[in-house]
Amino acid sequence: MSHLGGTTPRETPDAAERMTRAELMDLQLARLQATLRHAYAHVELYRRKFDEAGVVPADCRTLEDLARFPFTTKADLRDTYPFGMFAVPMSEVRRVHASSGTTGRPTVVGYTEGDLSMWADVVARSIRAAGGRPGDKVHVAYGYGLFTGGLGAHYGAERAGCTVIPASGGMTARQVQIIQDFEPEIIMVTPSYMLTLLDEFERQGVDPRGTSLRVGIFGAEPWTEQMRREIEERFAIDAVDIYGLSEVIGPGVAQECVETKDGLHIWEDHFYPEVVDPLTDDVMSQGESGELVFTSLTKEALPVIRYRTRDLTRLLPGTARPAFRRMEKVTGRSDDMIILRGVNVFPSQIEEIVLRTPGVAPHFRIELTRRGRMDHMTVYAEARADTGTQVRDAGAAAIAQGVKDGVGVSVEVRVVDPETLERSVGKIQRVKDLRAKD
Ligand code: DLL
Repeated sequence: MSHLGGTTPRETPDAAERMTRAELMDLQLARLQATLRHAYAHVELYRRKFDEAGVVPADCRTLEDLARFPFTTKADLRDTYPFGMFAVPMSEVRRVHASSGTTGRPTVVGYTEGDLSMWADVVARSIRAAGGRPGDKVHVAYGYGLFTGGLGAHYGAERAGCTVIPASGGMTARQVQIIQDFEPEIIMVTPSYMLTLLDEFERQGVDPRGTSLRVGIFGAEPWTEQMRREIEERFAIDAVDIYGLSEVIGPGVAQECVETKDGLHIWEDHFYPEVVDPLTDDVMSQGESGELVFTSLTKEALPVIRYRTRDLTRLLPGTARPAFRRMEKVTGRSDDMIILRGVNVFPSQIEEIVLRTPGVAPHFRIELTRRGRMDHMTVYAEARADTGTQVRDAGAAAIAQGVKDGVGVSVEVRVVDPETLERSVGKIQRVKDLRAKD
């Protein structure tokens, strides 16, 4: 409320969303040049890397010149753990987050007051693109804490003028109760935890299609179009994709618009995207698939220059927000890729097949073992309740055949009893690799 001070929530698109592509590109270049100067002046690692590559910030005269600058990787953040890449004195850092990572030290990221405000702005913009409006109640079931999901969604929803229900992850039975009693219009959660909530609705005998929920904003892990359909039908909501990563800001780097659901518009006034060939490092043209790379354009505490996300996607022209390019839904990371007897397999390919198989629930796991000198993949999928043995066997055979035809490898499939695979409370870990490391 403006009479009490504070930020007035904005329902209409903000100024940047109304820019033309040419205006946006001018803004990007000015911000890029400032970011390169800031990083070079205040972060030892960038100074050393630029010097080694023989470039200085002044060499960036056009947006294409960014390709002359070196990449940054997760290893750079680990090597400077915890705060070595911060570009401002610690007294100006208002918050840190960290991503756990599967091995070794976490990656630590920091935010100034300005960074936190920009982050709230981009998440608010994402919520609006998803169809959220001031006055909507937003149930945030991303985990609160060092993970960026909970707090990132939280402050963005407040900035959008919504009422936040800070549920965090876990205590699933209570989440269902709260959704029924508080009547949120929007839920922000990982798609895998949304499925856990779905089970709980059914366990409690509550119709998941009968809730107040209108829109779900799902991200933090890959999910397929088949999963979107499953969630939309089972809950009678619109399901849209939100993307982000801690190193770049957290959730709110890119967002799918509810009216088109055709990939995610990248908020390019703050995050400059490139797609590169993961093997040659060459920048690829619009429409070509490769690894997504981001350069922050306005971040103060932790500017990132050409940060390699490992996420695989391609860039496409804007649609619902014409000035902003889209990225195709991310269905895999280069480090999620399983090489099974010489064939590349992504868990999302298995997801597509499992979700289209009758009698099988949308829960699955992949286990990798070694039999003799051969790698072996077992797909565990769960039967839907009341599925008889015959349908289960047919389901297992259909999944195995689908993987053979669609992916090109033979796998073993076991359709297990309902409610036996472990449920996600946040980001799901689908692949268990039991192969001896040699
Ligand atoms: O997962 C930030 C986030 C929170 C995004 C909530 C969306 C919603 P990290 O923990 O640093 O940050 O993990 C980042 O998660 O590089 C992708 O591999 C994956 N990821 C995030 N969003 C999506 C998505 C958060 N929509 C890593 N689709 C990223 C596919 C995603 N993968």
